[in-house]
Order: sequence, then structure tokens, then C-alpha cells
Amino acid sequence: ATQPEASRGEAEFVVVANRLPVDLERAEDGTQRWTQSPGGLVSALEPFLRARNGAWVGWPGVPDVEVDEFSDDGMVLHPVSLTSAEVRDYYEGFSNATLWPLYHDVVARPIFDRGWWDAYVRVNRRFAEASASVAAEGATVWVQDYQLQLVPTMLRELRPDLRIGFFLHIPFPPVELFMQLPWRAEIVRGLIGADLVGFHRPGGAQNFLWLARQLIGLEPSRGSVGVRSRPGMVQVDDRTVRVGAFPISIDAASLDKLARTKAVGERAAEVREELGSPKKILLGIDRLDYTKGIDLRLQAFHELLQEGRVEPDDVTFIQLATPSRERVEHYQQMRVEIEQMVGRINGEFGRVGHTVVHYLHQSVDRKELAALFAAADVMVVTPLRDGMNLVCKEYVAARHDLGGSLVLSEFAGAAAELSSAFLVNPHDLDGVKSALEQAIKLDPAEGRRRMRALRRQVLTHDVDRWARSFLEALGAGPTT
Ligand code: ADP
Ligand code: F6P
Repeated sequence: ATQPEASRGEAEFVVVANRLPVDLERAEDGTQRWTQSPGGLVSALEPFLRARNGAWVGWPGVPDVEVDEFSDDGMVLHPVSLTSAEVRDYYEGFSNATLWPLYHDVVARPIFDRGWWDAYVRVNRRFAEASASVAAEGATVWVQDYQLQLVPTMLRELRPDLRIGFFLHIPFPPVELFMQLPWRAEIVRGLIGADLVGFHRPGGAQNFLWLARQLIGLEPSRGSVGVRSRPGMVQVDDRTVRVGAFPISIDAASLDKLARTKAVGERAAEVREELGSPKKILLGIDRLDYTKGIDLRLQAFHELLQEGRVEPDDVTFIQLATPSRERVEHYQQMRVEIEQMVGRINGEFGRVGHTVVHYLHQSVDRKELAALFAAADVMVVTPLRDGMNLVCKEYVAARHDLGGSLVLSEFAGAAAELSSAFLVNPHDLDGVKSALEQAIKLDPAEGRRRMRALRRQVLTHDVDRWARSFLEALGAGPTT
């Protein structure tokens, strides 16, 4: 029922995500600054929302701070505070040690903790209340990702006048795995409050429709869900909820433009020179996450060196790993393993003045990112499971010269669109090794043919198209 006391705001279009697009950083001397938040969600949505002068509801990235709403270049940022205990239980706990591994094929064992669930419910309610206070009468509210799956129904109870969309940025798991979750029905009930529930792939949408029938007794439509077409339908009281597939993408034109600048070209040449002008540069760029298969690609590279199929003097591997979720145990273990592997490879195959694997546990800015893409002969993207993976699309967008080749895991959502990459099963180490070897030794004409096909896909299916197709299916009116 409507709760008349819920206050209304002025924003006609609101994005709600766990994080704001900027993180508050507090230095030891007490000074503060805002930096861009990590991850694909922000890379994808920030340019879009900025152009629409919308509002963004999210956490400023540090615990125990109260920050007033502020405006950033036309966009209103509405911070939601979390205590240290909530960061531990809702964010590091339920979101990233329960849902994250469960939704990524249980590649690590999910922890089911009742206290974490309570925190998840409490924090989702806070986000729903914040969104209700920011949105204008009849506004469109777009809720993002696995941290906020209860928000659609909570928000609808507060504000039935709103049009509510939900998009999941990570994979939606096979039903057999989802059924492990002690709070499975609550999650499905939380999502069904949206007018449109979106996934990257039709399979995710279909899994959700099956669960809506099995767990909460709804009667969804039975036809197969298409990509950006033929959404599934579920009747919930007097509402029709749509369930569809909308593969996310990147701001391809702006990266293409950046990669064509003189500054990026010069920096790419400088990177190659600083590395001692190796014949081939291999590149990995990821958040340091155990789903990304960083260890697998290093192992494959190590074996290629050991077997003499790749010469250490000819090839340099750059692995950039953005620090991520550093207090969650699986992430700590993974970091130790990766750093040991890097040390082992360099110990065995490096020599003074020549390091085989350059490992950077850091974030870099967009220009440096574009220069690394431009310098890399082989981009290596080997997640065990990834909702989409934007890095591989960014690489393609940066290669206007048609140079370079892409080795891509079949288990990234992007593989369905990027079929001209060297597709690999990351569990099959021999397959990964032979794909790496082929990509390193690729005939340039064949490389150009593949890259041309990849670019055709990425440049025509950009983030704007993703957002427009979602918002049109949501019935959110004109989206430009
Ligand atoms: P996820 O959302 O799981 O982090 P994606 O591949 O979808 O994975 O998105 C990652 C985003 O973060 C991309 O836009 C990528 O360019 C950016 N990124 C990843 N690692 C770094 C890094 N070390 N420095 C700067 N940006 C990075
Ligand atoms: O979609 C994956 C995701 O969790 C996003 O929600 C987020 O942008 C990104 O990864 C980074 O993760 P975190 O916010 O936990 O640092």
C-alpha cells in the first residue's frame, strides 16, 4: 500500500547502485578526494547518466561517513552511509562472500550466514528509502546489480507511482546452484517488484522465470527469451513484469577516439620501448578477482615458456590487477597465489634488465589504459565465469589499426558476441596454451580479418544501445 509519509524528490531519472560512480578517499593527513570507482558497472553507466542529468544513489565507498547530496557536472549524487559492521556483513559478507561466488558457478564456496542476510535486508531497505526520497512523482528508477536485489519490491511498496527497472551485471546462476540459497524465495520476491528485470544473457532470464514459478508460484510465459527481444512476461497481481536479456557494452566511440590521439600512440610506443622492445606483448587487465582466471593464464604462459614454445626474450606479459575487496578471504588467498606465480616465472625466466611478467597491483587512468591496449599484441581474458567482461570490448574498441588479437574465455558473457576471438575453455589448460601460441604467432592478415569482425560488433553495440534498449523495454519514454 502507498505510504503517504514517503517524501518525494525532483529527479525524473534515478540510478541506484551499491557504489556511487566516485569513491571518497581519505588520506592519513585527514584530507579527502573523490576518485572514479572500480568496475564495469561504473564504466558503463556513468557516461550515460551524466548525459541525462540524472541522480545516482549509492555508497561513497568508505564506512562511517555522512556526506550530503552534491552535484557533479549536472549529475546529482545522493550518498547512502554504511557503518563498518554493515560493510563487513552486507558488502564483504552477503554480497561478496555469499552471492558473488554463488552466482559465479560456485568457483569458490559461498558462505551462508544469517547475520549477513539480516544486514543485507537492512541495507537494501535503506537504499529503497533513499531512492524514494530522491525520485520525482512518476520517475524512472533503475536499480543495479546483486547487492540490491530486494530494492525493487521495497521501493514499490514505498512508491507505487514509480517505474522501476532492475539490471543484474553478473551472471544469474543455473537454477540448481541458486536453489542452495537459504533466502532464494526472498530474492526472487525482491526482484519481481520491478517492471523489467534484465540480465546479460537469455539463459539468465529463463532461469529467473523458472524460479518465479517454482519458488513463488507465479505463472510466467513459456516462450524462449531473445536478445533485446521477446522478453518473458509474468503477471503479478495487476502488474505485468517483463524479464529480458540486454548484453551490456562500453562507450566504444569515445575509446576509439581516445586511442586515435597522438598522445596515446606515443605512449604506446614508449611502453614497448620501456619493455625493451619485445617482439610480442601480452596483456591482462582485471580487478584482482578469483573469477577472472588470472592464475590460469599465468600458468599457461609459464608452461609455454617451460616447453620452449615461447621464448622469454621475445615475449613480455603485462598483468594489471586493480585492488578489489581486499578484506574478503578468497581475494587475499588469490592475491598471494598470483604474486607467487609472478615471482616464480620471473625467477626462472627473467634476467637482469628483462622481466618476463610485469605485474602491477594498481589502477591506471583511461589514457594509460588505451595506450596499453594499443601496445598489446595479445589481450588475454580468461575468466572462469564473467557476466559480460568489458575489458575485452575495450581492447577491440581501442584497435582502430586492426592490430592485435584477443584470447577470450567462453565463460564470459562477451563470448556470445565476440565469436572472432580465440575462444577458450579456461579449465582446459592445453587449449588455453595453444590459443595463446596461435595468437602470438598469428598471420597479420588473419589478425586484421578477425579484428575487423570484432570491431563491427563492438562499435555498433555500444553502451548507449544497451541502455536505450533496456529503457525502451521498461517503457521509460524517450531516452535521448
Ligand atoms: P568487473 O565489472 O568485474 O570489474 P569488467 O571487465 O566488466 O569487470 O569491467 C572492468 C572495468 O574496470 C573496465 O572498464 C576496465 O577498463 C576497468 N579496469 C580494470 N582494471 C583496471 C585497472 N587496473 N586500471 C584501470 N581500470 C581498470
Ligand atoms: O558487476 C560487478 C561489480 O560488482 C559491480 O557491481 C561493481 O562495479 C564492480 O564489480 C566492482 O566491485 P566493487 O564495487 O565490489 O569494488
